[in-house]
Amino acid sequence: MTARYAVFGQPIAHSLSPRIHAMFGVQLGIPIDYRAIESSRNDFARALDAFAREGGTGANVTLPLKQDAAALCSSVSARARRCGSVNTLIRDGDGWRGDTTDGSGLLRDLAEHHEFDPHGHRCLLLGAGGAARAVAFALADADVAHLAIANRTHERARALAASIGVKVRAIGWSDLPAADPFDLIVHATAAGHATAKFNAPAPIVEAQTLCYDLSYGHAAMPFLRWARGAGARHASDGLGMLIEQAADAFAIWHGRRPDTAPIHATLRHELAMSASGT
Ligand code: ATR
Repeated sequence: MTARYAVFGQPIAHSLSPRIHAMFGVQLGIPIDYRAIESSRNDFARALDAFAREGGTGANVTLPLKQDAAALCSSVSARARRCGSVNTLIRDGDGWRGDTTDGSGLLRDLAEHHEFDPHGHRCLLLGAGGAARAVAFALADADVAHLAIANRTHERARALAASIGVKVRAIGWSDLPAADPFDLIVHATAAGHATAKFNAPAPIVEAQTLCYDLSYGHAAMPFLRWARGAGARHASDGLGMLIEQAADAFAIWHGRRPDTAPIHATLRHELAMSASGT
């Protein structure tokens, strides 16, 4: 029987993960049964149980379930425990082992597609939710010069910064105009899903600042428009991170990491086609 995999989240209908894993499977000659399962936070534990009973052996977890997933695991990797966020589940006996590949996915995309190593750089993270947590820990571990975290609810940014430690501090949105420019700005709020406009003070951007949105498609547009308007020459959506975190999850489940370059090229082309209405 083909092992079963799935991605859980809400909304999930437009998730690219089933296609990405199917393409990985074709590339490596591994048959893949991977589907998307819509699940609210209230329903997640029940839906995951049902999936396990049907032979589910691995799952990805996305918005808004990453912190819930961490709580449901019988064991978690050291990196998932540190950031309290799980995006990859591995069936382990009667329970689930949790891991997170978001941070490693981001770092690999930054390195391979943007020639950017966070080491020694001044970084700003916008957001302090589930998506932001893994990024914050990954950047701190990559030995940034310093990391500032700004969030609509300041207390959440403060708590996240405090849980990481030195070189990481919370900064109020109202303090951003007085901040020096950053080398890397990562947008990790969910605002792009709800509003068409993103606003932050332009002086935090210099021409060489890399502005990176964890989302892709329409949700990334407001931040990317703002970034280019503020003068950033390098503004990227999170498609690359999505593919790289998927490849890391694939490697955990199947023991082999696919070549992400052809998948990246295909999906980038499709995204450009759909943005231009072709
Ligand atoms: P996710 O897993 O996507 O990070 P989350 O844990 O609910 O989901 O976090 C959502 C993030 O987007 C938070 O940083 C949230 O800010 P709050 O902590 O103040 O809620 C941020 N966010 C959501 N909607 C936003 C909006 N309209 N404007 C600014 N920030 C927003």
